[in-house]
Amino acid sequence: MYDVYAVRKDFPVLKEVVYLDSTATTQTPVPAVEAMNEFFYRYAGNHGRGAHRLARETTNHYEDARETVARFLNSEPSKTVFTKNTTEGINLVANSCPWEAGDHIITTLIEHHSNLLPWLRLQKFGVNITVVHPDREGRIDPAVIETAITDRTKLIAVTQASNVFGSVQDVERITKIAHRHGIKILIDGAQSAGHMPVDLSTLGCDFFATAGHKGLLGPQGTGVLYIKEPDELESASVGGGAVSEVSGLSFVLEPSPACFEAGTPNIPGVIGLGRAVEYVKEIGVSEIEKQEIMLARETARRLSELEHVEVYGPENRAGVVPFNVRGLHAHDVALILDQSRKICVRSGHHCAIPSVRFLEVDSTVRASFALYNTEEEVDILVNAVNELKALVG
Ligand code: ALA
Repeated sequence: MYDVYAVRKDFPVLKEVVYLDSTATTQTPVPAVEAMNEFFYRYAGNHGRGAHRLARETTNHYEDARETVARFLNSEPSKTVFTKNTTEGINLVANSCPWEAGDHIITTLIEHHSNLLPWLRLQKFGVNITVVHPDREGRIDPAVIETAITDRTKLIAVTQASNVFGSVQDVERITKIAHRHGIKILIDGAQSAGHMPVDLSTLGCDFFATAGHKGLLGPQGTGVLYIKEPDELESASVGGGAVSEVSGLSFVLEPSPACFEAGTPNIPGVIGLGRAVEYVKEIGVSEIEKQEIMLARETARRLSELEHVEVYGPENRAGVVPFNVRGLHAHDVALILDQSRKICVRSGHHCAIPSVRFLEVDSTVRASFALYNTEEEVDILVNAVNELKALVG
């Protein structure tokens, strides 16, 4: 097991606060911040645009980051597209597939808006959507997905780990079901990559979208989209850097991944992401997963013992613990925790209104964990929530 206290030194802000909002965004370790500083101070140029030394060095670092991320997910650089976040990756797929009226997409009620709205929007082009319901704890039964399949189903879009329930889906089984029926599958890995081992070659999914700024510990404004068969997708976003030839009224797109990265990308962000992924790899994602699960299950267990607290989600959860304090609004709880103990938790609908409504509430408080959290922080949170009893009687 890695030394969590040594790891914390790489995240200076953790000296100031009890940070329990890593599902919204994680903190970025010093080596990744230094890699971004180095870009600005030593060699900032544009990517793939120019023969001079700064352009060459920038291109090399950017492509090294792609290699690092691809290897981390057991994929290939040509199938690894940098985006600005999970949302952009999923929108890229939604807007670039050749949909026809009558096509059918299956998604689920536990998705955050990023894996729901891009599909719902396609309804105006005649695409039909089925939204599969979870069980009470936010688990999707793969058999229920299979029942929803029709002869027009083209895609199943499902999250691997829910940001609202903390439930982890059996994406291996769902992928097998999809492929048995000749259907493509997109996995939303916003809350899985970096938090649990993800091996895209073994998993075999068609698309995998994730953020750079969550489990991968990179900066905000970075994301990754894996496309198994890039030649089957025609990028809906084109421009400089994505084309090899433009003549008269026509153009020829570059091969993947360049054709999906039109315009100057977030170069410092991607370089920081590459270094952050190396950092995650050095610690070991299985060890990180163990630490996060241990803290989350301990938190859920102890909070559920408090009479004034309701905890949601399954017992076998990833590092996400949603709860409410009876008689207090989630935002008030979050504000009090911040003001009394400098505890940062998220409150509200977590960009997943249907999921939260499924719990028959309009908001929850959510404590979420990353590799740098400790048992002492769990104590601080549980004690602070316990003290709220005085406010609710
Ligand atoms: N979807 C992110 C969250 O759960 C923003 O906080």
